[in-house]
Amino acid sequence: MRNETDKATIKQVPSHVAIIMDGNGRWAQARGLERSQGHVEGVNTVRRITEVASEMGVRYLTLYAFSTENWNRPKEEVDALMHLIGIAIERETPDLIKNNVRLTMIGDVERMPSDALERLRGCIARTSHCTGLNLNLALSYSARWEIADAARRIASDAVAGKIDASAIDEATVSSYLTTAAMPDPDLLIRTGGDLRVSNFLLWQIAYAEIYVTPTYWPDFTKEAFREALAQFGCRERRFGLTGEQVRAI
Ligand code: FPP
Repeated sequence: MRNETDKATIKQVPSHVAIIMDGNGRWAQARGLERSQGHVEGVNTVRRITEVASEMGVRYLTLYAFSTENWNRPKEEVDALMHLIGIAIERETPDLIKNNVRLTMIGDVERMPSDALERLRGCIARTSHCTGLNLNLALSYSARWEIADAARRIASDAVAGKIDASAIDEATVSSYLTTAAMPDPDLLIRTGGDLRVSNFLLWQIAYAEIYVTPTYWPDFTKEAFREALAQFGCRERRFGLTGEQVRAI
């Protein structure tokens, strides 16, 4: 008998899933552990969710791994997290290649420590031929940084005569964002229970379905991810139209 969250039963698999991975610190503190232990456990969840996203046929998985605002956390936590991300990505590279997963990253990554950045760039180069899931890490990322950066480059190209200022439209703006090469997220998942979007992909999530679970990121299982996809499959996406109009398409 088929389970409701089996791939074949899910009505519509989202092409792009974006995740705010929250709750590592609270997961650790609830166990009397250092917050950084929560991030260590969070890496295991990254591996698990990358696997299940790939199994389910998701094309793009964008993970909010480090925000611009996260630079203001205590230095020890930032250093530990940067080290962890670099080490984990290097360690996982052979498996990513084996599973045909391509790594990309978005964000103001030049701010990252050079050793973590080198490891990430190494993985990006070694997985660039992969044609399966695109695992996209948002690192030193915030949507307001991204939009301001795009505005600066659009203005500069307009002044240089490369684009016509009066012809700038939504497609132009999208093409200057860090996600220009990918579709907008269909589904935004947030773990840890908070009901906010925390400066993540603000332009791109205009019509994303939002799924919030109280589960802390280290406890987020493959089955929980499949449940989010199953719920997404049951939503009616209207994009501003009426239900009748959508059903007539
Ligand atoms: C939010 O939890 C989580 C982060 C700021 C970091 C997430 C990073 C990882 C899971 C590691 C990613 C690794 C790779 C290889 C991509 P929080 O610390 O804000 O938790 P809290 O809300 O409970 O305090």
